[in-house]
Amino acid sequence: MKAIRYHEVGEVDVLMFEDVPTPEIGDDEVLVRVRAASLNHLDLRLRAGKSPRPVELPHIGGVDAAGDVEEVGKNVTDIVPGTRVVIDPTVKTPKGPSVMGVNFHGGFAEYVRVPASNVVPIPDDVSYDDACTLPVCYVTASYGLFDRGGLQKGETVLVHAAESGTGSAAVQMARERGAHVIATAGSDEKLEKVKEIGAEATINYNTSDFAEEVKKITDGKGVDLIFDQVGASAWENNLKSLKTKGRILLVGVVGGGQTTFNFGPIIMRDLSVLGVTVFNAPRTNLINAINMVSLNRLKPVIDKKLPLSEAAEAQKMLEDRSQFGKVILNP
Ligand SMILES: NC(=O)c1ccc[n+]([C@@H]2O[C@H](COP(=O)([O-])OP(=O)(O)OC[C@H]3O[C@@H](n4cnc5c(N)ncnc54)[C@H](OP(=O)(O)O)[C@@H]3O)[C@@H](O)[C@H]2O)c1
Repeated sequence: MKAIRYHEVGEVDVLMFEDVPTPEIGDDEVLVRVRAASLNHLDLRLRAGKSPRPVELPHIGGVDAAGDVEEVGKNVTDIVPGTRVVIDPTVKTPKGPSVMGVNFHGGFAEYVRVPASNVVPIPDDVSYDDACTLPVCYVTASYGLFDRGGLQKGETVLVHAAESGTGSAAVQMARERGAHVIATAGSDEKLEKVKEIGAEATINYNTSDFAEEVKKITDGKGVDLIFDQVGASAWENNLKSLKTKGRILLVGVVGGGQTTFNFGPIIMRDLSVLGVTVFNAPRTNLINAINMVSLNRLKPVIDKKLPLSEAAEAQKMLEDRSQFGKVILNP
């Protein structure tokens, strides 16, 4: 089969479009013919050797994938070849999550092998392209906003990097729940697009101080919740942007993963700081996202679809921060 594989970590040119053996499945596994796989920022960090979880080389990445079950192992009785599925990338083990595209080969290939319990059927009205955007970004959004952050209808949430795959998912999920969204991004052009998917107010964090803007937009009150993918460089302003009893979700660290901070505001204003890891989310988040797409309550934001052979160009889009929402590969 064809796959995008790398033998060393480095720049995008380590990504090779190669012939590799089609995986052989075990008794409890299935082979999925991949029809669509979406990129995540995590793929870039793994390929660059910058992830705290280094991959075993050579490696085929791809945490998000959807396709058709091609073959099932002899113990598999509840799924048949031909079923349209999306893959839940997380295999729960006693030692913690083992993740497709990280701990074992992923979906940037014509075929991928996964435990049968990791495939989730999708209805005919959910396309492979839409389905493959859901397991990381949309599950992170719903698990973060609702399960961890307890976002309620009528509350106000500040979403950073709102044009990213995960940020755009958070904007859509929050709006669908009836929350007010203030979104930040690095350019006015991106902010225009973020408005189209539901942000009521937007802030360009390159040209203004977002904490001051949040104060103006909320008449000095601040927001209830922050969905933060930026990390260290946004920390001080995040604290200033929260209401008393506000909550902050630590989702990503594109702006740095370490900082020093003063405990005072957190104690005196009853603030809550909550970590979010998609690989701890219950399966119900993925099933709900599939149902929302099927019911037309959610339309995943897809910027570009490229053939598998153009994986390097696809990763370059994310590296250049030029994408809006998701970039997809179709093997
Ligand atoms: N905790 C979890 O379970 C979880 C799950 C999914 C994603 N994440 C994290 O969420 C973040 C976004 O992931 P994604 O896949 O949605 O990303 P993505 O689509 O590649 O978008 C990343 C965006 O972050 C912004 N950004 C700000 N500072 C940046 C910097 N120094 N370098 C690069 N980008 C920067 C950029 O927007 P501007 O140009 O507008 O600044 C960029 O478009 C990542 O940190 C990822 O690791 C975490």
